[in-house]
Amino acid sequence: MNFTVTPGWPVVLRDGPVLLRPYRRSDAAAWSEVRCVNQSWLAPWESSPPGRWDELNSPAAFRFVHRDQRRQARRGESMPFAVCLVEAGGRERLVGHLNLGNIVRRAFCSAYVGYWVDGRVAGRGVIPTAMALAVDHGFGPGGLHRIEVNIRPENGPSRRVVEKLGFREEAYHPRYMHIDGAWRDHIGYAMTSEDVAGEGGLLARWHRLRTAAS
Ligand SMILES: CC(C)(COP(=O)(O)OP(=O)(O)OC[C@H]1O[C@@H](n2cnc3c(N)ncnc32)[C@H](O)[C@@H]1OP(=O)(O)O)[C@@H](O)C(=O)NCCC(=O)NCCS
Repeated sequence: MNFTVTPGWPVVLRDGPVLLRPYRRSDAAAWSEVRCVNQSWLAPWESSPPGRWDELNSPAAFRFVHRDQRRQARRGESMPFAVCLVEAGGRERLVGHLNLGNIVRRAFCSAYVGYWVDGRVAGRGVIPTAMALAVDHGFGPGGLHRIEVNIRPENGPSRRVVEKLGFREEAYHPRYMHIDGAWRDHIGYAMTSEDVAGEGGLLARWHRLRTAAS
């Protein structure tokens, strides 16, 4: 019997070299390597349980992370994507993460997005591309209407991602989330499906913006 309650999941999405897919058990070593190399890059922006970074991000820890992600996805609460770059020869390199999480349906049909990318490939538009793919999928086969992102005011690169994609700044949340040792303020950004419907979707908008900037 099929217990899947998430419309549009599982799925593989791709635009150029950027590929989004569900995690696999075999991602453990690559996930651990990228997380460990990027400790100082990621830690200021993530909520994480107490413990040593290398232990929380070990290949063994990935088994628990993966199991949790799969359980949530099966319940229809999230769409957790491994963000990969397709390199020469077709090899997929795991370089980041994007999750459509806290999915609430019925009259809300909303999700929150969280993401990170390997600092070694930052600044190449990987996450805006991943975001555009995921948002279009969410608004289409995923059956969502609203997608939110909450970002610390100090996180300039992340604010650039949502601002250049055209998310609306809607709220200021004082002491919103416990991150890097303290309760941190966040700015709330959001987008609804109407915001991009007339433009052929967020990926089409992102392509137009990139072309105009080049
Ligand atoms: C936020 C983040 C996901 C952006 O991903 P990305 O794929 O690099 O996104 P972009 O390529 O659009 O770059 C976004 C901005 O980062 C800055 N940037 C560019 N190159 C950079 C580099 N090598 N290193 C750091 N920042 C860089 C630029 O301001 C860029 O904006 P621009 O369009 O004006 O150039 C990434 O910086 C990251 O993972 N940061 C750490 C974790 C994090 O903050 N997660 C989000 C929490 S809300």
